[in-house]
Amino acid sequence: MAPPTEVLVQTSPETNPHVPKRTTVKALVESDGLTSIPSNYSYATHPNESDASDPNDTIPTIDFSLLNSGDPHQRSKVIQDIDKACQEWGFFMLVNHGVPETLMKAVLAGCNEFFNLPMEEKMEFATKDIWKPIRFGTGVDIKVEKFFFWRDFVKVIAHPEFHCPSKPQGFSEVVQEYCKRSREVTMELLKAISESLGFEENYIDKAMNLKSGWQIFAANLYPPCPQPELAMGIPAHTDHGLLTLLIENGIGGLQIQHNGKWFHVNPLPNSFLVNTADHLEILSNGRYKSIMHRAVVNSKSTRISIATANGPSLDTTVCPALELVDNENRPAAYIPMKYKDYMDLQLEGKPGLEHVRLPVV
Ligand code: OGA
Ligand code: NI
Repeated sequence: MAPPTEVLVQTSPETNPHVPKRTTVKALVESDGLTSIPSNYSYATHPNESDASDPNDTIPTIDFSLLNSGDPHQRSKVIQDIDKACQEWGFFMLVNHGVPETLMKAVLAGCNEFFNLPMEEKMEFATKDIWKPIRFGTGVDIKVEKFFFWRDFVKVIAHPEFHCPSKPQGFSEVVQEYCKRSREVTMELLKAISESLGFEENYIDKAMNLKSGWQIFAANLYPPCPQPELAMGIPAHTDHGLLTLLIENGIGGLQIQHNGKWFHVNPLPNSFLVNTADHLEILSNGRYKSIMHRAVVNSKSTRISIATANGPSLDTTVCPALELVDNENRPAAYIPMKYKDYMDLQLEGKPGLEHVRLPVV
C-alpha cells in the first residue's frame, strides 16, 4: 500500500507488439509468446539481502480463540505472546479466528472473477487519486509510471463507508461480509494490543476513533512471471494503518524482514497473516515496529492476496501515547500528524514514517 522504497533498475522500455498500450500485467502475461519480461520490469534486489532460514527462528502463531475462552490466565498468556510477537517480529499468523473458511475462499474467488473482467470494465476504475473509493491499478502504465511491478490490484474503501464495484455479480456482498468479519477480528486484536501496551482494552478504540476507522480492502493479482528472479510483485514497504490482515490463495510470495533478513512466509491453512503498521509504531512510541515486507512472484501459478488495512479515523491526530513517553528515558520519537495528512504523503514517494520520526538524540 505504500510507495516503493527500494532502488529499481530502469532500463529502456521495450515494446512488445502483442501488448496494447493500455494494459495490465494479466494481459501482458496472456499475450502471445511472452518468454522473457520486458526490461522495464527488471528489479535489482539490494546487494545486502540474503534469504534467511535460521531454523531457530519461527514465525509466531497466535490462537485467537484463547483470547476469549473465559479463562483470564489464558487471555493474559496470549496477550504476552502478542506483545512478544509485535516487538520481535511485527508479524504473526492468527489461527482459530472464527472467520469461516468458506467466506475466505469465496472472497478470493470473487477477486479472481473481478480480475477476469474485460479490461475496459476494470480500467473504468483506473486512477492515481488515492482518495477515490474504488481504484484499479497495474504495473504497466507506461506513460506515467516510473517503476513497474508484476501486479494488478483493486482497492476499495470499506469503512466508515463501504464501496465496491458492482461487477462481477455477488462480489460486493462477499467483499462487504469479509471486510466486516476481518474488522471484527482486528478490533479484538486491538483490544489485546491495548492491554499488551499496559492500557485498558478500549484504549486504542477510543484514542484512534475506530468507530470511524479507515479500512481499505486491497486485492492483489500476481500472474505467473517468466523470469521471477528479475521481477518484483510489491517492493519492500510498510503499511500505513494500525494492523493489516492478509490472506492468499495458497500460493506463497509474501516475505517479511526480520533481523535484517528476508523470511518467506508459508502460512498455515486458513490463517490470517497479521502485521503491525506505521500508526501502531507511532502510538506505541516505537515499542512495536511497522514491519517491512514485500511480495515476490513465481513462474508457475497465479497468486492472489487480499490485504485489509485497518487504520485510525482520518481526522485522528496520532502521536505516541503520553503514558508511553518519559521525557528523560523514553522521549517521544514521532511528531503528531493527522492520519489524513499522513495518507497524502504517499504521493511524495518517501516512506511516511520518515516524515514523522524524530532523530534519536
Ligand atoms: C500489501 C502487501 C503483500 C502480499 O498489499 O500491502 O503487502 O503478499 N501485500 O501480497
Ligand atoms: Ni503491505
